[in-house]
Amino acid sequence: MKRIISGACALLVLFALAAPASDAVATDRQTKARSLAATCANCHGTNGHAERGAAVLAGMPKNDLITQLRLFREGTKPSTIMGQIAKGYTPEQVELIAEHFAAQKR
Ligand code: HEC
Repeated sequence: MKRIISGACALLVLFALAAPASDAVATDRQTKARSLAATCANCHGTNGHAERGAAVLAGMPKNDLITQLRLFREGTKPSTIMGQIAKGYTPEQVELIAEHFAAQKR
């Protein structure tokens, strides 16, 4: 009996975690984009709302972000860390990330 209850609790927690906070109609693509974009949050803040001087990604036009990451990857734009980070994503992933940040309010 105890096992069943804790199993049910775990399920509830999973549902709660999986439920999008604001838009209940997030598409698969948006969900993927959000979790990829979350890998930028440590430095650029949640959803790109940076604090303490890091670049604000929220509201950055999609093509700007794609271009910046390409320049970092190629080394055309000097960087301490972004050159390495930019190498870690496929073009498809960069596109998803860029879509996510472009959709955030500044
Ligand atoms: C470890 C911290 C860190 C992480 C994680 C990180 N960044 Fe950055 N980002 C930086 C730093 C530092 C700079 C300034 C350039 C440099 O020195 O690398 C920067 C600069 C940028 C810029 C240029 C902004 C401008 O206006 O010049 C963009 C765009 C950017 N990051 C996007 C991203 C994206 C997208 C991700 C996630 C895939 C990401 N960053 C993850 C630290 C980080």
